[in-house]
Amino acid sequence: MMDSQKLQTQYRTDTCGGLRKEDDGREVTLVGWVFRWRDHGGIVFIDMRDRYGVTQIVFDRNSAEQDIDSLAHKLRSEFVIQVKGQVRPRPEGTVNESLPTGEVEVSATHLEIISESENPPFRLDDKGEVGEDIRLQYRYLDLRREELQRYIRIRHDAVIAARKYMDTLSFLDIETPILCKPTPEGARDFLVPARMHPGKFYALPQSPQIYKQILMVSGFDRYYQIARCFRDEALRADRQLEFTQIDIEMSFIDEDDIIKVTEGLMETIYRQTLGIELKPPFVRMGYDECMELYGIDRPDLRYDLQIKDLSDAFRGCEFRVFNQILDTGGRIRGIVVPGAAGYSRKELDDINAVAVDMGSKGCVWQRVGGGGEHDSSIKNIVSQPYFDKAAELAGASRGDLLVFVGGPDSLTSKVLARLRQYLAAREGLIDKNKLSFLWVTDFPLFERDEATGALSSSHHPFTSPHPEDLDKLESEPEKVRSRAYDIVLNGYEIGGGSIRIHNPDVQRRIFRALGISDEQAEYKFGFLLKAFQYGAPPHGGIAMGMDRVAMLLCGTDSIRDVIPFPKSSKASGLMEDAPAMVEEKELLELHIRKIVKK
Ligand code: AMO
Repeated sequence: MMDSQKLQTQYRTDTCGGLRKEDDGREVTLVGWVFRWRDHGGIVFIDMRDRYGVTQIVFDRNSAEQDIDSLAHKLRSEFVIQVKGQVRPRPEGTVNESLPTGEVEVSATHLEIISESENPPFRLDDKGEVGEDIRLQYRYLDLRREELQRYIRIRHDAVIAARKYMDTLSFLDIETPILCKPTPEGARDFLVPARMHPGKFYALPQSPQIYKQILMVSGFDRYYQIARCFRDEALRADRQLEFTQIDIEMSFIDEDDIIKVTEGLMETIYRQTLGIELKPPFVRMGYDECMELYGIDRPDLRYDLQIKDLSDAFRGCEFRVFNQILDTGGRIRGIVVPGAAGYSRKELDDINAVAVDMGSKGCVWQRVGGGGEHDSSIKNIVSQPYFDKAAELAGASRGDLLVFVGGPDSLTSKVLARLRQYLAAREGLIDKNKLSFLWVTDFPLFERDEATGALSSSHHPFTSPHPEDLDKLESEPEKVRSRAYDIVLNGYEIGGGSIRIHNPDVQRRIFRALGISDEQAEYKFGFLLKAFQYGAPPHGGIAMGMDRVAMLLCGTDSIRDVIPFPKSSKASGLMEDAPAMVEEKELLELHIRKIVKK
């Protein structure tokens, strides 16, 4: 409970959340917003609201100085008012158990309307049916809602818990520039024209990555920052153009040190914000195993539904498509859905539609029966013994449903990862109260773009290769494992990091493998390579996605809910109407000319 004395100001003696039975008889002054208004037989009742709660006010007394009753009839939702009055117990039978202040009301002796309000475009007492765009447009009203107030509070608690924890472990909170040198880390940069350097640009940081590494070279040993990052990429429910990281870097450490600090951080955050005790160490899984079992590097482990390799079951079967897939290096992989053999044709069609949506030609289903009596979408093509074998390999029993997809691993993984989610939701297998943390390790250092054939870093170019794989860097770059790790919670990547390269020669080799020439590397990253020549400690770190952590703490499914002023899904600030046109004159000062494509 808040110490209400602390919150006293010249405007108020108490908050709208603080009054209790023990305050009976006290003369109080409250300020806040008119939440609900009702007229009971000519007497006005309101619920008055501020950040701290809601208090019932009754306007049943006129005084010599004020015709309070007629003034109270002028009140409307969201007016800002000041009320003076006396606290009294609510009459028997009208106590509201669900409100902390529900046993009392204030009988008003004085009312002042401080600000009037237009009629709000949506109700503030429930989320209702109002669209998100209108909520974002009137974000100041949306933020008054209890739900968003609670989310902002939880996020605050998490940040405070994080800061205290990092401080206890001797991490220094150090700021790094927002106007940086453009050194892309994987996403597209936001560029800022440099007025004083015609033709040149700053970039907003995609993360403080290089600066925090340089701080290690400077001997700061343990750095952290609650850092704003900017990436010009397509938005999703868990992605914004600007977002916040709890950014961490340490020297003289290896993976286990970073993992331990991070687990302690999550443990502290959950304890301090929700009173939940986590139980580290969290599960760890190599990238290859993760992709094999779940088809994705951020699986939701609240439910099982592991992917099985059924290739051997269908080798040599009558279905030409399967044979072609198997002959060309692909596989048939599937999921067992326990007890789901009874799905209707419509339900099976829906599953197929999900598989098609993910880029496959569709999926095959098999209703697992006893020996020799499986029903399947390909039962007219494939003979029963193959289905027996598939059920056996998958560990499926009578009454289960098997769903399988054939193709290269890149396709089957993508489709089955999505089907896992879909089927788990359909079957109600997701326990909303469960927290399934997972570390994914041993990522490949590089990814190859299927269209262009170019290599890019799976994490970022400063990630250390696995020392054992260093000799494959030029010959078989795709086989090189990295010392990167991601932390996943309930299917969301909530953080990622790596042990870094601290040797300038290895760093140059990585740039070359990425197709960055020595000259380009010098131009873009020369300052980092130079810093490494002056005594670079071994170092590594991680960045936690603060918005995603807050989203999961709050139990919502959009990071927009935990960001006070987020961009819409179409990357606009709907309240302020950003981005906006600027005047030609301003552009000229920045040495920029607009080319509008016809
Ligand atoms: P990475 O790019 O993996 O690593 O980002 C770290 C974490 O930040 C969150 N995140 C985002 N959250 C919201 N919107 C976005 N657009 C967005 N992009 C990323 C994710 C992610 O796990 N410099 C490295 C960290 C390091 O190596 O120390 C980095 O930024 O939760």
